Amino acid sequence: MELEQEIRRRRTFAIISHPDAGKTTLTEKLLLFGGAIHVAGAVKSNKIKKGATSDFMEIERQRGISVATSVMGFEYKDVKINILDTPGHEDFAEDTYRTLTAVDSVIIVIDGAKGVETQTRKLMEVCRMRNTPVMVFINKLDRPCKDPFDLLDEIEKELKIKVRPLAWPISTGPTFKGVYDLYGDRLSLFFGADKQSAEGETLDVKLNDPAIDRYIEPFTQHLRDDLELVEGVYPPFELDSYRAGTVAPVFFGSALNNFGVRELLDCFIDIAPSPGKSHTAQRDIDPYEPKLTGFVFKIHANMDPNHRDRIAFLKICSGVFERNKPYLHVRSGKNIKFAAPTAFMAEKKSVIDEAFPGDIVGLHDTGNFKIGDTFTEGEQLQFVGIPSFSPELFRYIENGDPMKFKQLAKGIDQLMDEGVAQLFTSKMNGRKIIGTVGALQFEVIQYRLEHEYGALCRYEPVQVYKACWVESDNEAQMEDFRKRKFNSMALDKHGREVFLADTSYALSLAQEKFPDIRFHFTSEF
Ligand code: G4P
Repeated sequence: MELEQEIRRRRTFAIISHPDAGKTTLTEKLLLFGGAIHVAGAVKSNKIKKGATSDFMEIERQRGISVATSVMGFEYKDVKINILDTPGHEDFAEDTYRTLTAVDSVIIVIDGAKGVETQTRKLMEVCRMRNTPVMVFINKLDRPCKDPFDLLDEIEKELKIKVRPLAWPISTGPTFKGVYDLYGDRLSLFFGADKQSAEGETLDVKLNDPAIDRYIEPFTQHLRDDLELVEGVYPPFELDSYRAGTVAPVFFGSALNNFGVRELLDCFIDIAPSPGKSHTAQRDIDPYEPKLTGFVFKIHANMDPNHRDRIAFLKICSGVFERNKPYLHVRSGKNIKFAAPTAFMAEKKSVIDEAFPGDIVGLHDTGNFKIGDTFTEGEQLQFVGIPSFSPELFRYIENGDPMKFKQLAKGIDQLMDEGVAQLFTSKMNGRKIIGTVGALQFEVIQYRLEHEYGALCRYEPVQVYKACWVESDNEAQMEDFRKRKFNSMALDKHGREVFLADTSYALSLAQEKFPDIRFHFTSEF
């Protein structure tokens, strides 16, 4: 019974946005409502400042903050909310993709003046792949914004999802009056509110009440016309289509002014799904199953260079996680107990005795865990849906200090387990190639190899356009491909065959010439 109740009252989600749209600000306001923090400014942005891509201190600072704010849990109206933070910088997009495998829903923040931006589009693709339910918060209404209908059209077109507004803005910029809350059917007025307070100004004034004029003059008629159009154009909100990930409810507000945030949060706890089924290669897992299952979706190295300890983030998928109880680490076959598993409440980390599906537990790791690792009470399961994406930038990595060969190998190995980048070994010359999704990762790897492992590395250019995993049922064709493309073949860390196409032309030519070979752009197929 307890398990059932605990699952039903959990909401695990991520806020995603293009940098600067207001993700950090919104996160902070949500935490204020939950009483998890008490003053604005307590949540630090984990974004790397523009132009600071070569500043290692900045990278370190970012890493420090991102462990502190990786998961923020808080209680609101008896609902346990877990916000999973995602890195702001696009070079860490892969980290974000993996975090999205651990959430049950997503809130997308869009800057009302800028509309849909590149990073939002990419992240939405991942949500669409997984049918993750999304809510949209259009932010910065205190500034002049695009027309709300245009914004909604843009979202539908660019993010390829249907929308249904559940709030409606009354003007924007200097004349911004507030929003009409269609979900709660009431008016919320904007006074350029106190940034520190967690209270908005909500009035129980309905749209057809003549008194509404007093508050929103001269926009009353405009609002009524807009809302008539809204009701005509958008079908009524349906919980099922939101849960299926086909319709996104949309809210408007100003995170900085704490405006429209409560409406968003109140609706969120009503409609956002509690933990649902997850998938393993063997069977589907129901969260209500009494036995524990969970998977590691993120590994974070500690800051202290003298201790090479890491924290593995375990998402609980079913059952109850208990401190000091042995669990099977499926990949190694070992039973492992955790004496000090941690939970994350806002900025604080604390040791916990138990955790439930939807929760994230921090496990102390001395280098044994990998992203995607599964824990169970004995069953042989492997969670799926945590793919590596085909990297986009490539360099040869060479040893910079012949005396430190072992340190380098170990460092590379562990950093790859953490998911910082991917390693390929060329079949032609045995050289190691690092593939990343962002240029910053090369610097991070070099810096961390030196400071955490005492190893030096150098990079050399290699002409690779894309790495894709290849397989075929037609062994003869595969063999022919291997021979012809010998110079471009490599093995990934798990010994799987990878084709390193040097140009997009070479890739499409190969796809054309070898129709029986499947070219995969994520590691999971
Ligand atoms: P991010 O995490 O998505 O990258 O965005 P973040 O919350 O850091 O917000 C980016 C900038 O936008 C910040 O200003 C923030 O204060 C501002 N902002 C957020 N919400 C609103 C809003 O509703 N209205 C207005 N006008 N601005 C908003 P900054 O100058 O870059 O940083 P800061 O020095 O103010 O912290």
